[in-house]
Amino acid sequence: MSASRAVLLSSWRRFLSMRSARPIRLIQLSDTHLFADPAGQLLGITTRRSFEAVLAQVSALAPDILLITGDLVHDESAAAYRYLHETLSRTGLPCACIPGNHDLPELMTQQLGCAAVAPVALRRLGGWNLILLDSRIAGEDGGALSPAQLTQLDELLSGEGSPTLFAVHHQPTAVGSPWLDGIGIANGAALLALCDRYPQIKAILFGHIHQAFAAQSGDCLLLGTPSTCLQFRPASPLFALDDRPPGWRLLTLYPEGHLETQVGYLDGYAEQPQREALGY
Ligand SMILES: [Fe+2]
Repeated sequence: MSASRAVLLSSWRRFLSMRSARPIRLIQLSDTHLFADPAGQLLGITTRRSFEAVLAQVSALAPDILLITGDLVHDESAAAYRYLHETLSRTGLPCACIPGNHDLPELMTQQLGCAAVAPVALRRLGGWNLILLDSRIAGEDGGALSPAQLTQLDELLSGEGSPTLFAVHHQPTAVGSPWLDGIGIANGAALLALCDRYPQIKAILFGHIHQAFAAQSGDCLLLGTPSTCLQFRPASPLFALDDRPPGWRLLTLYPEGHLETQVGYLDGYAEQPQREALGY
C-alpha cells in the first residue's frame, strides 16, 4: 500500500469513529477535469491551478470530508489521477470520489485510494449515510441507472432510516438547458420516485452541469454544484460558457437530519474561460 493511500484510509477511519453529536461539514467539488500536464488547460482554464485554488479556499472552511462528483480527469491519464490522489492525500481529509463520463473506472480504481467505482456504494458520515452512485454509460455523455442499481437502492433504503445523501455525476432532472437536459440521467424519474418513497433521502448531489442548481422533488433537494474549472451558462439552449469563476458547495449536516447548503466561488480568479467556445 502506498503511503498516500494509507493516509487516506486512516483519515477515513478517524472520521468514521467521530461522534455524530456535532454537525458534519461536507465540501462537494465537481468536474475537476485534470490533466497529466500541470499546464493543461480546458478552454482557457488551467485545471490543476483552479482546483488547487479551490482546495485552498475550502480548506479554510474546516470541512470534515471532501466529495468529488466525477469528471475527475480530462485526458484519461493515470498521471492525472495520481496527481489528484497525491493532492487529496495532502489535505489529510477523508475523500469520496465517483466517476463521470470523462473518467476511466479502471484507472480510478488503480490510482485513487478514495475512488468509489461501484454501482452503489455506502459511506457512513456520523449519523448520516452517503450513497455514491455510478451513473455512467460507457462511451456516452449521458447517464442512466440500471434496474439492478435501483433494486439495490430499494433494498438498502428499506432497511436503513438514517438521513441520507445521494451523490451521482449526472443530473436526475431537467435544469433548463436543452443541450444538458439531453445528457442527464435518462431514467432520472426513477431516482426521484425513490425520494418519494423514502423520506430519509434529504438531497441528491450532482455535477456534470458545471453550474449551481437547486430544486426540490417533494422534500428532497436536488443540488447541482459548479465545476472547479469552468462553468456552463445557465438556461442556454446550446453549449455556452459562463464567466463565473471556479466554485464548490458546502453542506452542513445536522445530527437530527436537516441540512444547510451554500455555493461558493473563487471571486477574482485570474483566468477567464474562452467565452466563444462552442464545445469541448
Ligand atoms: Fe464535466
